[in-house]
Amino acid sequence: MARRKITLRDPSRFKDPHNLTWAKYIEIQAKERARYEAELAKLPPEAFDFSGVRPGYLERAIEQFANNYWPEEAATHYIATAAAHAPFEELKKCCLFQLADEQRHMEMDRMVFECAGIPERDWRPAWEQPGTTYRFFQHILQLDDPFEILVKANFVGEGAAGPGSFKVLAEGAEARGDLLSAVNHRARIRDETRHIKYAQALVKALLEDDPNNLEVIQQWQDDVIPLFADVAKGGARREWWDNFIGGYYRIALPLGLRPTPVSF
Ligand SMILES: [Fe+2]
Ligand SMILES: [Fe+2]
Repeated sequence: MARRKITLRDPSRFKDPHNLTWAKYIEIQAKERARYEAELAKLPPEAFDFSGVRPGYLERAIEQFANNYWPEEAATHYIATAAAHAPFEELKKCCLFQLADEQRHMEMDRMVFECAGIPERDWRPAWEQPGTTYRFFQHILQLDDPFEILVKANFVGEGAAGPGSFKVLAEGAEARGDLLSAVNHRARIRDETRHIKYAQALVKALLEDDPNNLEVIQQWQDDVIPLFADVAKGGARREWWDNFIGGYYRIALPLGLRPTPVSF
């Protein structure tokens, strides 16, 4: 089946829910940056050389580090594509602010790999193995339609992975003595929440514009949810999965979308 496209005939239906201007964006990001640096300054030296983590932690954590770093790296590409193809200014602006956010997140995650002393040649193989977010992001990276990218990556992907899961990741890292990862996860929650919110506003605008868009959005959701099921490792991480997908359905089902059947 040919890839289905949708349009927003009346672009005035979409408004950035945060009403950001460049000046406001720079201001909130400067505050975020100052907050982040203050958190880093409070960390003990062992947070930066990973000498305080539980034995065996790093061997297991490399997959999580890859699942943090590479999706942020992928986001700097796909959101730039969405910005380049955005059909109207208000949407392009949201994508460009997100591009700057994702660059910041990627650099935070690069620092974790570097501080942990994991050689760069091992970063990519840790992501390409089964059971990671690799397949989902490879799919997103080959798209060029801005609505399809934003629905799949921001609305479905970040909607599911969003704020709750970063909190869980932060607590998990902290419990194992990885204080640097914990600070990083907390430092992106506000940005990720903003990315989900504007994608939600976009989906609402598309549905108001033409109720027939629901079937295309449903198809886009059905395309990507099975790719994420990989991360549930054949159902072994069932609790994680229920939490993850539950977060997305809380925003999607009220809009008329139906759950995607997934088999493990
Ligand atoms: Fe991010
Ligand atoms: Fe994001």
